[in-house]
Amino acid sequence: MKREDLKALLEDMSLQEKVDQMMQLMGVFYLDDAEGVLTGPARQLGVGEEDFWMAGSILGTYGAEQLMAIQRKYMEKQPHHIPMLFMMDVIHGMKTIFPMPLAQGATFEPELSGKCASAAAKEAAVSGLHVTFSPMVDLVRDARWGRVMESTGEDPYLNGLFAKAQVEGFQGDDMGKPYKVCSCVKHFAAYGGAQAGRDYNTVELSEHTLREFYLPSYKAGIDAGVGMVMTSFNTVNGIPASTNRWLMRDILRGEMGFDGVLISDFSAILETVAHGHSEDEADAAKKALEAGVDIDMMTSVYAANLCRLVEEGTVSEALIDESVMRILELKNKLGLFENPYKDANSEEEKTIILCDEHRKLAREAAGKSFVLLKNEGLLPIDMGKKAAFVGPYTNCKEIISSWAVTGDTSACVTIEEAAKEVFDLTRTSFHQGCQILANDYHLTGFGNLGESVPKELSEEEQKKMFEEALTAAKEADLVVMPLGEHFLQSGEATSRAMIDIPEIQMNLFREVAKVNDNIVVVLFNGRPLDLREISKTAKAILDVWFPGTEGGHAIVDALTGKINPSGKLPMSFPYCVGQVPVHYNEYATGRPNLEGMQERFKSKYIDIPNEPLYPFGYGLSYTNFEISPVTISKDIVTDGQSIKASVTVKNIGQVEGTEVIQLYIQDVAASVVRPVKELKGFEKVKLCPNEEKQVEFTIDEPMLRFLRADGTVGSDEGKFRIWIGSNSDTKNEAVFNCRK
Ligand code: GLC
Repeated sequence: MKREDLKALLEDMSLQEKVDQMMQLMGVFYLDDAEGVLTGPARQLGVGEEDFWMAGSILGTYGAEQLMAIQRKYMEKQPHHIPMLFMMDVIHGMKTIFPMPLAQGATFEPELSGKCASAAAKEAAVSGLHVTFSPMVDLVRDARWGRVMESTGEDPYLNGLFAKAQVEGFQGDDMGKPYKVCSCVKHFAAYGGAQAGRDYNTVELSEHTLREFYLPSYKAGIDAGVGMVMTSFNTVNGIPASTNRWLMRDILRGEMGFDGVLISDFSAILETVAHGHSEDEADAAKKALEAGVDIDMMTSVYAANLCRLVEEGTVSEALIDESVMRILELKNKLGLFENPYKDANSEEEKTIILCDEHRKLAREAAGKSFVLLKNEGLLPIDMGKKAAFVGPYTNCKEIISSWAVTGDTSACVTIEEAAKEVFDLTRTSFHQGCQILANDYHLTGFGNLGESVPKELSEEEQKKMFEEALTAAKEADLVVMPLGEHFLQSGEATSRAMIDIPEIQMNLFREVAKVNDNIVVVLFNGRPLDLREISKTAKAILDVWFPGTEGGHAIVDALTGKINPSGKLPMSFPYCVGQVPVHYNEYATGRPNLEGMQERFKSKYIDIPNEPLYPFGYGLSYTNFEISPVTISKDIVTDGQSIKASVTVKNIGQVEGTEVIQLYIQDVAASVVRPVKELKGFEKVKLCPNEEKQVEFTIDEPMLRFLRADGTVGSDEGKFRIWIGSNSDTKNEAVFNCRK
């Protein structure tokens, strides 16, 4: 539809009709037998049946048949036959589930993440969906927060690359094209900064920190052309995001130039009353509209108040027109006025969903996301040895994360299923050993994942399982222990004050360690965990996160050496929870805890080290890489002049492997304090044994720019350090100067 036709349509709509376009409800309200996924607190809605049939969009329902039925019914009733928008949380896969986003961050391969998003978009589109509430691009530093699993980690630069890749993967160059959907960058802004890692908690950041660390990844998504942004639940500078005009009008739309649809998070406009910012629902409606929020997710705050507020002269109808125009433009970009069903196709659902091509991609992405944290000669497994798999994840299909709300765990491949395809079963055995969680620990999740509560086992059943596993462990040459968090212990509303592997599993681990020294832990986790104990005892640790539908195959590929792990941590693993938040790009402080300084008055703990157990960018390989000292082409960078910094990487091991060579830079002294180091580039290098390659980075003045105290952005003259290595703790250093 041409823009002038959209304007004509808008002018012809009644005020209530326009306001109802700004309401989003659940799909289950529209069909008696509709299925849906409730992803937030349902509330009594203050609108009538006629409003339902004018709501501009729905969330939480998918499936070509049922969405086509809803669309048909809706358009018959909608006075101008405007099509409805169908939205869903397709976070890291629709039915083919890819590794959770934090795991995708560990691949240090944004383009791979883009391919996963593209495959997810295709499955979502044939299921009738138009919009996905993904990617979540919140910077995260606190492992207590359950939603770190949805992010790609603690670094602004890395998060920005993944944000761009995922938006482009979901939307392509035109979201109206077949098998593309509108992407939604969330949660604007700084939701990941929740105090104490407690979900929905206050976020207390300086504007400087907000701009330097938290905003860049949203900006990257917006610059990639994202069609939608979602508000966050938290306050920023004491004002809830959904009613924060400075954040939404000045920064998001003004500075960042976002002109797409701004949707609230689930009931977030209404919740500004609970925040103590809005007097009541009418006040919330007014403030959110003035902040430029276009869609009210899952409440009737807009629909039940805006008409009256316009009639009273409290809000301007022009603001409603502005929002509704953006909603109509999004529907138009998706081609819904020409084809309200877009790609919905129940025949194609059968051939595209969980197709071999997508499973193959899921297996590749999972394999590249694994991080080898420790390996003292046990991996890859010697297939001539007697192996016992002992642990609750040995044959567990719940390996797709709590945000895979449209996924089916039944489609997942378990470790045991995959191992039985390659291991000699005369000397390989499989034992659960214990449950993931003790009987008294209950969790809830979204959709059909919500029914996943551990099967209650009697004392004797548990004892029998435990003893049988120990016997096998005792008789084996090595024990592979698939352990970790329950998948519902991470995700939304799952903050944990203790970030341990469940005690019931640690008991099994300790008993196995008494009878066998050769333990390989395969770790399932939605967040960095406290791995102090297992890191002392296990000879190998492979972090597989929640690897998705093809997890079992990918894990066995890694255990047997069919693939060589190359993942790198996108988020620091703390020494223990007391160290949280811990992140590599911290400030030095005036009393840094450096060697050689007086021991007492330093920024340190007296009971634990400052360093995380495993740092950002860390990950081992089955081979070894030698990295030469850094060479730089010259030691002065001036405006318009760049320098080259390079190393030679050599595979000095026996097998092919991939190393992620990382470039870090520090501005040693600047008008505002700068992080001790910042990731500024990386390159994945695949080398055969004895092969070597030069890796070169170009360092130019724009790379050195930062936000100054006066709000300008630029570089300062002075000394800079660079490091090039295999993780953020590298000592491979060189120095240069920037001159104006
Ligand atoms: C949830 C989440 C958000 C999600 C939305 C819709 O509360 O915060 O990330 O997209 O509701 O399900």
